[in-house]
Parts: sequence; structure tokens; C-alpha cells
Amino acid sequence: MSAARRRSAACYTRPAMGETYLIRTFGCQMNKHDSERVAGLLRTAGMTPVDEAADADVVVFMTCCVRDRADERLRGQVASLKSVKAARKGHQTIAVGGCIGQRDGERLLRQLPHVDVVFGTHNVSHLPSLIDASRAGRGSVVEVLEASEEFTSDLPAEREHPWHAWVPITVGCDNFCTYCIVPYVRGRERSRPLEQIVSECERLAAEGVREVTLLGQNVNSYGRDLYGTPRFAEALAAVAQTGVERIRFATSHPKDLSGQTIEAMATIPQVARSLHLPVQSGSDRILTAMNRHYTKRSYLELVDRLYGAMPDLALSTDIIVGFPGETEADFLDTLEVLEHAHYDQAFTFIYSPREGTPAASLGDPVPREISQERFDRLVNVVQHSALAKNRALVDSVQQVLFTGVSKRDANVLAGRSEGNKVVHVPLEPGQHAEEFRGRFAPVMITEAQTWFLSGYILGEAAAGSHNADAH
Ligand code: SAH
Ligand code: SF4
Ligand code: F3S
Repeated sequence: MSAARRRSAACYTRPAMGETYLIRTFGCQMNKHDSERVAGLLRTAGMTPVDEAADADVVVFMTCCVRDRADERLRGQVASLKSVKAARKGHQTIAVGGCIGQRDGERLLRQLPHVDVVFGTHNVSHLPSLIDASRAGRGSVVEVLEASEEFTSDLPAEREHPWHAWVPITVGCDNFCTYCIVPYVRGRERSRPLEQIVSECERLAAEGVREVTLLGQNVNSYGRDLYGTPRFAEALAAVAQTGVERIRFATSHPKDLSGQTIEAMATIPQVARSLHLPVQSGSDRILTAMNRHYTKRSYLELVDRLYGAMPDLALSTDIIVGFPGETEADFLDTLEVLEHAHYDQAFTFIYSPREGTPAASLGDPVPREISQERFDRLVNVVQHSALAKNRALVDSVQQVLFTGVSKRDANVLAGRSEGNKVVHVPLEPGQHAEEFRGRFAPVMITEAQTWFLSGYILGEAAAGSHNADAH
């Protein structure tokens, strides 16, 4: 608590019943999870959500600082609220939380003085009382803690989808990849006791959740701090017994992905055969400079083992181009990884220096136009790889969890396959999307595009029968 900083008086009045809120979320799944908790807390305080900032008594930004662009977007959006707040004669409380809140604390107010509350990643549960304090006092309130004992999962949640839940199994990160800000804004890695995870998943399954995503910056090291050795494979097996029908997880660090985890993925039916395995670079020299603890060869051997155990595995990755000192030869090594790994999806980023990280003080920056050119080449290769993987699924049957309708056409159902691919199914006359939302059904794939598959629902499920629920 030593780092707690707070300004203003503390005469508390709860956010009033009937007030409205809007939450804007940036960044990763951990932030999405935390935003669901913020929504839960504000709902519990009697508030209701709205879609427009102009209608919101409270606006909460859950922020990300992993790359510069995320920083800029936040600043732009908060700045634009100044006039909205003025139009409401100041009757709007603006709160900034998440990773920028954690990193900047009080500093944020110098640029954005109309912000009322700044909070961090370790004190989400304090938000209602911080809002109270800012309203009761004369100035803005800042509270940023260095670490916390709480897991936000224990807070009430207002989940985005009733059939899906984010379940953090670890928080924080101890890996200190040299480019990455996350360990500084999320703190040291801590695991949740297995029995807590299991009882949460049992409760979620009983509430109708069909799919969970186990979250951690490096899920493979789950349990190391609690049990002395990682117990991620065991966690997968335990969650599979809770009644949850599909289990996803992210993120896996290649240095820690164990044989037991591969076996658990290959043998436990509830565990989706879908793996996000960030490679970041294919160059050994760059991987060392990034502090990643594997080589191009060991990474590709791991990929071979994975496909050996699960030929139908959907594999995705993250790649950074333009890390300081990256040469064309280094970049060609990265392209070689892509050629061998047959990724279904790759998230590609141009390196963005983050103040306070070791890489930020490295010399030899890659000129922007070279990074951009490598980025464009990379995207091209990724698209070809994704399309090839999707084409291989034509004429196969995929278990799809339907989530709603296509963004472009309300007469087309949209869902996700086990490999996390978007699957489209045109609705038959007389069918309604609501019958399918949150339910599994087998889909015969007839067509493949780069970023989605299309097909039709097989058998009785086509009529919206509840038999379609079996996974
Ligand atoms: N813990 C996860 C996710 C970390 S952030 C993991 O280890 O994969 C998500 C991705 O953002 C990273 O995988 C990396 O590819 C990218 N990233 C992180 N810091 C970055 C930076 N400074 N510049 C560009 N991309 C970055
Ligand atoms: Fe960042 Fe590396 Fe930790 Fe991922 S494993 S959060 S990239 S430091
Ligand atoms: Fe961004 Fe924080 Fe996640 S910096 S990627 S929101 S942990």
C-alpha cells in the first residue's frame, strides 16, 4: 500500500441509483475481464449502462500501453470528452484505469486535467469509492497500488456474453521480454489456487457458461509460485471436470510449453485444439536481445511436436518487426518460421519503444519505412497461410459455438469453431438467430475465405433442436 497516492477529501457518497455508465476498453483479454468486473461493480451500485458518452454520468476507460498507438488513442478519446463534459455542465465523472492508469498515475492529470479518477490494475474493486471521493472532494482522485492481494475474478461480473467467461489463472508476468511494458504495469506473476479456479468454473457452468478462456500472460507457468512446479496441464484436466464444454487459454510462452500440456490438449475433449504461441521473431540474435529463451530451431521443433500430436491444431502467433538492430537477414528468418509453422492467424506489430523497458535504450533503430515494408510483406504471407489453413477445412465438420449474427448481414449466423475461426451460416426461412446464440452445433464447412468459413448446420441441429448442444 506504500505507493497509494490520493488527493482530495474523502466524504463518501455511493454512485447514485439510476445513474448511467459507459466503459471503453482497450488492450488485451485481461482488460476485457477487468472491464466486466467494473461493469459488475457499477451495476451493483445501482447504475445502468448506456452506449453514448453524452448520456453517461460515469465514463470509465480501461487502458492499454503495450504500444504507442494504444496510448495515443486513449489520450484522443479522453480529450474529446472535455466538450461532452462541458455540455453536461460538468456532471460527468471520468475515470481512467487499467495499464496507463497504473503506469502514469498522477502524471495523467497534467495532460488531461478533466479526468476525475485515476486508478490502476491492482485496485479495480476500489473504483466505486474512488468515484465517491472525487465527487465529494474538490479535485481529482488518484490511487495506484504497487501490488494487490485481490483477484478481480472475485468481484461481481457483468459478462459481455452469458455463455462465455474469462477466467484468470495467473496475473502479472515475470518474463521481462526486453520490449514489453506488461511486467511493469501488471506486477509479478501470481497464480490462483486451483480449487478457486475449479469452483469458479463449476459456478459458471451452472450459470450456463459453455466456454471459458483461462487467462495469464504465460499460462504455462501456472502454479509455479504456489506449488513449486507448473501445474497448467493439471489445471486443464481439473477445469474439464467442471461442466464447462469448451476450454481455451492464452497466452503460451514457447519456453514453458510442456509435453504434459500438449498431451492434455490432444486428449481432453473439452480443451480446444487451438493454441496461441507467440514467436515474436525468427532470428536467434533478435530472440536473445528480446530475452525470449528459445531459438528458431527449438520453436519449430515444438511446432512439429504440436502438429504431430494434433494434426488439426489451429496455431496462431504474435510477431514484432523492426526490433532495434533487426536486419533483412533477421527478418528473412522470421518469414522462414511462418513458412514452416503454417499459422492460422498471426498478429503482427511494428516495434514500439516503451519508456522504462530495456529495449527502449538500445541503439540502432530500424527506420520506419523499412519496418513498414517488412510489416506489409509479413501481412501478405500471413494472409496466404491463413487462407491455406482455412481451405483445408472445406468438407470437414466443425463444432461451432454461435455468438450472434454476421456484422455485415443479420440473416447470417456467426460463431466460432474449435480452432477459433469465425464461421458463417445463412439462416433458413423461419429460423431466428436467438435460437442459436450461445449454443453449439456441428457445421459442414463448404467455403473458406482468409478470415472466415461458411457452411450449413448438420442434422437436427438445423431446426434449432436442443440436441445440438452436445459438444
Ligand atoms: N503475454 C503475452 C502478450 C503480451 S502483449 C505474450 O507473451 O505473448 C501482446 C503482444 O504485443 C506481444 O506478444 C508482442 O507481440 C506485442 N508487443 C509487446 N510489446 C510490444 C512493443 N513494445 N512493440 C510492439 N509490439 C509489442
Ligand atoms: Fe510481455 Fe513477455 Fe510477459 Fe508476454 S511474456 S507479457 S511479451 S514480458
Ligand atoms: Fe495492454 Fe495492459 Fe494488456 S498494457 S496488452 S492491457 S496487460
